Amino acid sequence: MKKFFLFFFVLGSLSVAAQTASDTKMNTFISTLMKKMTLDEKIGQLNLVTPGGAVTGSVVSKDVESKIENGQVGGLFGITGPEKIRQAQELAVKNSRLNIPLFFGLDVIHGHKTVMPIPLGLSCSWDLELIEKSARIAAEEATADGLNWAFSPMVDIARDPRWGRIAEGSGEDPYLGSQIAKAMVRGYQGTDISKDNTLIACVKHYALYGAAEGGRDYNTVDMSKVRMYNEYLPPYKAAIEAGVGSIMSSFNVIDGIPASGNKWLLTELLRNQWGFKGLVVSDYTSINEMMNHGLGDLQAVSALSLNAGMDMDMVGEGFLTTLKKSLQQGKVTLQQIETACRRILEAKYRLGLFEDPYRYCNEERAKSVIMSDANRKAAREVAAKSFVLLKNNNQTLPLKKSGTIAVVGPLADSRRNMLGTWSVSGDFDKAVTVLEGIKSAAGPDTKILFAKGANLTNDANLAKHTNVFGMEAPMDGRSPEDMIKEAVDAAAQSDVVVAVVGEAADMTGEASSMANIDLQESQKELLKALVKTGKPIVMVLYNGRPMTLKWESDNMAAILDVWFGGTEGGNAVGDVLFGKYSPSGKLTTSFPYSVGQIPVYHSMLNTGRPYNHEEFAKFKSNYLDIPNEPLYPFGFGLSYTSYSYSDVTLSGTSLKMGQSITASVKVTNTGARDGVETVQLYIRDVVGSISRPMKELKGFKKVALKAGESQTVTFTISSNDLKFYNNALKFVNEPGDYKIFIGGNSVDVKEASFVLGK
Ligand code: NOJ
Repeated sequence: MKKFFLFFFVLGSLSVAAQTASDTKMNTFISTLMKKMTLDEKIGQLNLVTPGGAVTGSVVSKDVESKIENGQVGGLFGITGPEKIRQAQELAVKNSRLNIPLFFGLDVIHGHKTVMPIPLGLSCSWDLELIEKSARIAAEEATADGLNWAFSPMVDIARDPRWGRIAEGSGEDPYLGSQIAKAMVRGYQGTDISKDNTLIACVKHYALYGAAEGGRDYNTVDMSKVRMYNEYLPPYKAAIEAGVGSIMSSFNVIDGIPASGNKWLLTELLRNQWGFKGLVVSDYTSINEMMNHGLGDLQAVSALSLNAGMDMDMVGEGFLTTLKKSLQQGKVTLQQIETACRRILEAKYRLGLFEDPYRYCNEERAKSVIMSDANRKAAREVAAKSFVLLKNNNQTLPLKKSGTIAVVGPLADSRRNMLGTWSVSGDFDKAVTVLEGIKSAAGPDTKILFAKGANLTNDANLAKHTNVFGMEAPMDGRSPEDMIKEAVDAAAQSDVVVAVVGEAADMTGEASSMANIDLQESQKELLKALVKTGKPIVMVLYNGRPMTLKWESDNMAAILDVWFGGTEGGNAVGDVLFGKYSPSGKLTTSFPYSVGQIPVYHSMLNTGRPYNHEEFAKFKSNYLDIPNEPLYPFGFGLSYTSYSYSDVTLSGTSLKMGQSITASVKVTNTGARDGVETVQLYIRDVVGSISRPMKELKGFKKVALKAGESQTVTFTISSNDLKFYNNALKFVNEPGDYKIFIGGNSVDVKEASFVLGK
């Protein structure tokens, strides 16, 4: 046994020694290089520019080519393709004085060319291996396409579905969000960042961007430190612990100071407390935007940002145009510029760009890897596993492969909308529509009728705002009545109706906040007319956010939430509707009962006047008109089978600091079909020095159960798992009573109690 440990100790020491040796080599290389660099060249490295393309603001960068040749650019974003990237790299490597290679970044958010489900959908799989695999595939494709830096994962906790960017993250929970953050970093970066199929990930948007007031994008954030530390910061920290190479600052203020100029955030917390060694990049013009925040002119905000700990300026060119002057005036130091420059050169060194600047420019690899059959097949599986079944009356689903099915709705045959937000490299022409997916899954014995039935919206203003990047919400020339009539006629001839409704891709994502998160009136009218036919209606919902679906949940026979499933989303819908997969996704964000209830989430505090959900009482923390609970809670999702949970068995009723206990339940598949259930563990710290959430997710396990099969699922809970940040922001354990809840969602749970002793 001792020998065994000695072996690992020696191995561990050797790898630390190897690491130190390679760091020394890198440091010497960079020091030698930096000695040759002029001040302008050092500042040039801090400049990230885009020649245009997939941009999310005004294009500031001009004369990109000559800037590269003059050593005024550290990296480029917004171009893809090994050939184009080789050309840009040649400008730097052949024509600039010191031949320093560029790095190439892009928003590789949910897949690259083979588009995976939007991150919110992906998170609903609760499948960390699958999520890691989807990031791995994205990295394989992106690196084959010339890229070496992905602006992902987006780990902002979001509890306001009005915020369009809720689509880009993993929902409301810090524990799950942290696990997913780590899985994605592993997927992108692999175990060796210098390989030609791995790239640097960029965790964003640091920090708290998801808590914008009113759900309005880019808006003010104001939050207590206790909430920050316990609920919003953990996913960024988790990504850093997983070794993420870079981090992007956010647009919002934190304690009144914009993130991009916030020294507490970028230096004290990030570097001093968390020990982050990588590269910090601003978000798109977020340094310049500090002028609008009211913090001074471009020179002042650029100096503020560098002083705060920013390394690289995305697109704004404030660093490029003002830092020299600020240095001369003593507003920044040479050391600050050099530190930032060094971090950028280190990232390039670690990628292996000094060894081979064309490492990612391999046309042959691009041909064989990008959108390969294997990647499309994986995307289809990932999409199917992201879907959440919200309702299924009388086993309406799965559908039979016989009879007549009316497929209706504005998204049934809309290729344009299948990929979802932030799929800048995706080609929607290569996406499978739901109609195609259904036809191919239904087989020859099923008759499929199609009618569009409604426009995505009849609100011309909303359509205009949605169509900025193309016709996602086209207005059909026919009258709404004619369109509805066509759909109703199709329904009348069918056994069942599949209504494919929801949001256009660009009603979600960046700069896509919505005050009304109901299904658009045009679509609701269609559904109401279909209900009158008396035919069972399966609603297939495309959405990048939780929506308010009270009427739909009362009137539809079944609701399958498919988010935006990506390139193979249509096929995946076919697979699930006809039962090739039993849905296994679970919500990672609560669906509000009404927009007035926002924010609503599972880890709320109890308040001093807790609500009694059985009976209304005056002078309690509740609403007169609606319940406190969301319509669909966090963790919720049905399947084609059903599960029962035994009571919780604990290995003991108390544990001491440094110890663990186990909690087990027997989960039984009580239905007639095989399925996969996500068993969730929550805890409640009953008495503490601060008020603690009513439920906190602390673990989950996915179990595959054949019809009739039972399995005992066991969780180990250590005293470490019970730690939290107290009012003095110390990460502590507090002895006392705890509750444990285990179940298939955050509401329907079995309960047990234990005591944490000293
Ligand atoms: C702005 C977005 O906030 C960020 O997520 C993205 O990575 C950059 N633009 C670059 O496109």
